[in-house]
Amino acid sequence: MERIDRLIAEMTLAEKLGQLTMIAADYAVTGPVVTPLSEDAIRSGTIGNLLNLYGARPTQRIQKIAVEESRLHIPLLLGFDAIHGHRTIFPIPLAEAGLFDPAAWEATARAAAEECAGDGLHMTFAPMLDVSRDPRWGRIAESPGEDPFVGSSFACAKVRGFQNGSLADSSAVAACAKHYVAYGAVAAGREYSPTDMSEGMLREVYLPPFRAAVQAGVAAIMPSFTDLNGIPMTANIPLLRDVLRGELGFDGVIISDYHAIAELLNHGVAGDLAEAAALALKAGVDIDMMSDAYRLGLPAALQRNLVAMEDIDACVRRVLSLKERLGLFQDPYRRGRADTGITTQSRALARATGARALVLLKNDANALPLATRKIALIGPLADAAGEMRGPWWGAGRGEDCVSVLQGLTEAGFDVRHAPGVAINEDDLSGVATALDLCADSDAILLCLGEAAVMSGEAASRAYLGLPGRQQGLADAVFDKAAGKPVIVVLFSGRPLAVPELVSRAHAVLAAWFPGCEAGHAIADVLTGKLSPSGRTPVSWPRAVGQVPIFFGERPGGRPFNPDDHFTSHYSDVENTPLFPFGHGLTYGDFELSNFRVAPDGDGLTVKVDVANHGALAAEETVFLFLNQKKPGVTRPLLELKGFGKIALRPSEQGTVTLTLPRPIGRAELFVGPKAAFSSLLSLSI
Ligand code: BGC
Repeated sequence: MERIDRLIAEMTLAEKLGQLTMIAADYAVTGPVVTPLSEDAIRSGTIGNLLNLYGARPTQRIQKIAVEESRLHIPLLLGFDAIHGHRTIFPIPLAEAGLFDPAAWEATARAAAEECAGDGLHMTFAPMLDVSRDPRWGRIAESPGEDPFVGSSFACAKVRGFQNGSLADSSAVAACAKHYVAYGAVAAGREYSPTDMSEGMLREVYLPPFRAAVQAGVAAIMPSFTDLNGIPMTANIPLLRDVLRGELGFDGVIISDYHAIAELLNHGVAGDLAEAAALALKAGVDIDMMSDAYRLGLPAALQRNLVAMEDIDACVRRVLSLKERLGLFQDPYRRGRADTGITTQSRALARATGARALVLLKNDANALPLATRKIALIGPLADAAGEMRGPWWGAGRGEDCVSVLQGLTEAGFDVRHAPGVAINEDDLSGVATALDLCADSDAILLCLGEAAVMSGEAASRAYLGLPGRQQGLADAVFDKAAGKPVIVVLFSGRPLAVPELVSRAHAVLAAWFPGCEAGHAIADVLTGKLSPSGRTPVSWPRAVGQVPIFFGERPGGRPFNPDDHFTSHYSDVENTPLFPFGHGLTYGDFELSNFRVAPDGDGLTVKVDVANHGALAAEETVFLFLNQKKPGVTRPLLELKGFGKIALRPSEQGTVTLTLPRPIGRAELFVGPKAAFSSLLSLSI
C-alpha cells in the first residue's frame, strides 16, 4: 500500500493515464483498430498495459524498457486471450463445458496459465462466462453454454486454474471474467446488437456466473460491448458500480473491451471522447483497452469537471494493486523466463480432454465403435488440421494440430480420403471422386461442418445448416452408401440445425472444435479405445425458428397439449429440441435407480444408483434438477442444481451423490441423464 500511495503522489497526470491505458501489439489482431506500439510511450510512462504480445524474449525486452527506462519504474501488465488454451489448444469452451467436470475445466486452465506465464503474460481475458441460448450468436462457441449453474461452476474452476490460489505464483495469471453482463442475449443473435431483459432474468440467469467468479477471487472483469436496457455496459453505473462493486463486492480491476469506450459515441450516449472517457471512468472502468479515450479525453474531462482527480486515482490504485498482487514490483521478470511450447504432457491433456468432450448424438445399431478399419474419409474437415483449433487459437499454430486423416492413419486405419467439396464454396467438381471411394470401403466417415472462423466474435449466422455444398455432398454419399454405415463427425462452434443429416446418418459425433489433438482424440473414440462422454451443454435446435431454445423455460398458462390447438406450439416444427441439454450417448448402457433424498444440515443430499449393463466401460453423467412452486411467481420447469459423473466398467454399479440447498416450500426433484422429462426420475419434497 505504501508503495502505491507514494507512486500516486509522485505521478503526473500523463503517467496516471498511462496506467489506465492498454494498447495492442500485433502478435494477434483481435479488434478493428491497431495502433503502432510506441516504445517511447512506454519509456515515458504513458502506456502501462499491453495486449497481444507474447513470448519470453519480446515480453522481457519490453518489460525492461518500462522497469529500467521509465521515470517511476512501474512494470507493464501484459494480457492475452487464452480462451481455450494458449500454445496447446484445447476443445472450445462450449465443448469443454459438455464434460461437466470441474477438475477437467481447471486442468486446462492451469495448463494454459503455465504456458501464458512462460510466454511472459500476466493476465488472460478469460473465462468467458456469457450464458448463451442462441446459437446464431457466434460467441456461443466461447461460452459454457445455456445454464447459469454450469456457468458458475465453470467460472470457479477456471479462476482456480488460471490464478492457482495466489496471483504472486510465477505460473499464475490474473483471470478476467467477461463479458459482463448479458452479452449472450444480443437481439436476434446478431453480434454487438443491443440486449433487453427483465431484472429477474438478469439476476437468475446471466449474473450468477459472474457472482461465482467474484467469489472465487477473479482479478479482473470486462464489461461487454453491448448496451443493456439502453445503458451501454461500458458506462453502466447501476450494474458496474452498484451491482458488481457494491453488491457482489468486486474490488479488482475492470478493463474495457477492445475500443469499447470510444464506441460510446456510436451508442449515442457521449458527444465526444472526453464525455465517453468520463462516462466509463465514472462507471468504474479502470483500464481503457484500445480506445485511447483516457489518455486523450480525460485531461479535457477534468477541465470540464466531468471527473475529479480522485476518480482517476481510484482507478490507478486498483491497477497498481493488481500489479503488486501479481508480484510484478518484486520481480517484474518472474514470468517469461523461457517460452513453453507444447509438451508431451500438454498434448496428452489435450487428447484426453478432446476425446472426452466428443458428444455422441446418435449411434444406431452400435455403428460406433467402428467394426472395420477400411474406411472412406470424406468431407472438407477431414484433412483440415488448422481448423481443429476453433475460433480462438491464442498462440496455437495450425501446423501443431492433428487432422482426422492423420489421427486415423496413425491409429492403423486403411483410409481412402477425398474432401468432396470445400467448407463454404460452390464447386461440386470433387464430389464424383469422393463417391467413388464409398464403393471401396466398409464404412464411410463424413467430416462436415463449419470453418473455425464461422463462430467466435463477429461470426453470427442466420442459417444454421451446413455451409456451402456440404449438405449436397452428404446426400449424395447417403444415396451411394448401399447400406454401409455412414458416420458423421460434425465440427462446429455451435449446434447446427441439421435434422435431415442426423436422421440419415447411422451415427453422429459432435466434435465441436476439439483442439490440437483432434485427430488422435477422434480416433480414440472411433476405435472404442475410449468412450465418448461429452454432453451437449446447450439445447440442440431442430430449426433456427426455435431459438433462443433452453430447458429452463417457465411453463406458461397454456403449455403444449397435442389434443388442444390453443396451446403453445409451432405449426411447422415440434417444440422440443432435436437433442435436449445434457444429451450424449456413450459406449456403456446405463440405468439409474433408487433415487433417494435425505436432509443434510441446511441442505439435502441426493443419491442415485447407476449401473452399467453395457459391454464397454464408460462414464455416465447425472443431472439434478429442481422444479419449485412459489405462490404468485412462475418458476422454470427445470432448474439445474447439480451434476456428477461416474465411470463404470461393464456390469459395475455405483452411486452418485449430490447436494443442494433445501428449497423453501413445495418442490419436485429430478435426476437423470438429460433435461428431458421422459428420462428423469422424480421425487416430491
Ligand atoms: C473481445 C474480447 C477480447 C478482446 C481482446 C475483443 O474484441 O470482445 O473478448 O478479450 O477483444 O482481444
